Amino acid sequence: MSDAKISKVGWIGLGKMGTPMAANVLAAGFDLSVFNRSPGPMQPLLEKGAVAAPSAAALALDRAAVVSMVSDDAALESVTTGAGGLFEQARPGLIHVDMSTVSPEVSARVASAAEAKGIRYLRAPVSGSTASAAARALTILVSGPADACEQCTPLFGAIGRKHYYLGPAEQARYLKIAINMMIGGTATLLGEALALGERGGVDWRQMVEVFDNSAVASPLIHYKADMLADRNFAPMFTAAQMAKDFDLALEAGRRGNVPMPLIAMSRQLFGAMIASGRGEMDFFGYVTLLEELAGLLHEQNQALRKK
Ligand SMILES: NC(=O)c1ccc[n+]([C@@H]2O[C@H](COP(=O)([O-])OP(=O)(O)OC[C@H]3O[C@@H](n4cnc5c(N)ncnc54)[C@H](OP(=O)(O)O)[C@@H]3O)[C@@H](O)[C@H]2O)c1
Repeated sequence: MSDAKISKVGWIGLGKMGTPMAANVLAAGFDLSVFNRSPGPMQPLLEKGAVAAPSAAALALDRAAVVSMVSDDAALESVTTGAGGLFEQARPGLIHVDMSTVSPEVSARVASAAEAKGIRYLRAPVSGSTASAAARALTILVSGPADACEQCTPLFGAIGRKHYYLGPAEQARYLKIAINMMIGGTATLLGEALALGERGGVDWRQMVEVFDNSAVASPLIHYKADMLADRNFAPMFTAAQMAKDFDLALEAGRRGNVPMPLIAMSRQLFGAMIASGRGEMDFFGYVTLLEELAGLLHEQNQALRKK
């Protein structure tokens, strides 16, 4: 079965990312069977032609490859080695592709369990957003058995713009965490910069536009520019999710003795985001915490009251 063309695909996890990704797999012509812990999110996929599976374990019965896209370490363990998980009834040769952002430590544990059952386990976290997921424009970072990666090339083509094979073990997990350190760090620094500009009386919309056209312009800032200009912090990736990724970085750094003072500080402030009721806000809403700390929100309120 290892050389067979993959046509039957299973999908676990239909959240903000999993739903558009699975829809693209279906649209690319794969025979798709889906499972989500709570049944509601399965409905839109079923209406498009996917079949519902009663459990993650059931997907192992007739699928050549099963993708998971779930929240975190606990969720990954639950849908794989947990009761009713994918590995319960899996046969040797099954390919499991996990695209979640999780720790190298738990991923390695899942890898051992997979190996014991002859499951070919690919770590395949993605870089991109809900919008790039919908547009099939994700960048997929892959590590694990090279032959399984090769076999999944058409599947990756249905989900993303490009995939990179990075090595046989947890390389993809480390690189994904490293990229998210840069993304979270950008939100932190931009938040401070915007708050300073506000203090100096710079017009908010103009300031966002200039950042987007300045020496620090980047695809990330460009992607967030409209949302920032409108002060629309509806979550594409929440502050709580970014705090989780900072934790993944700090724990991996601790284990490997890699100092990360900047990320440690950013994590503290993202704790304050959560504590101040901003955990479910988009992580670029970090600027509002800075505005509060700088007294800018208070000044805005005073000005409104005077009007
Ligand atoms: N959002 C982004 O922009 C983005 C970009 C790149 C990578 N990521 C990463 O991609 C992953 C998914 O993100 P998302 O934004 O799609 O998250 P999300 O919207 O919160 O969805 C999480 C999914 O995981 C499932 N889940 C959570 N805990 C579970 C458990 N214990 N057992 C079984 N299923 C469980 C949820 O099921 P229920 O529906 O039952 O709760 C849901 O399907 C995360 O690791 C995230 O860091 C996100």
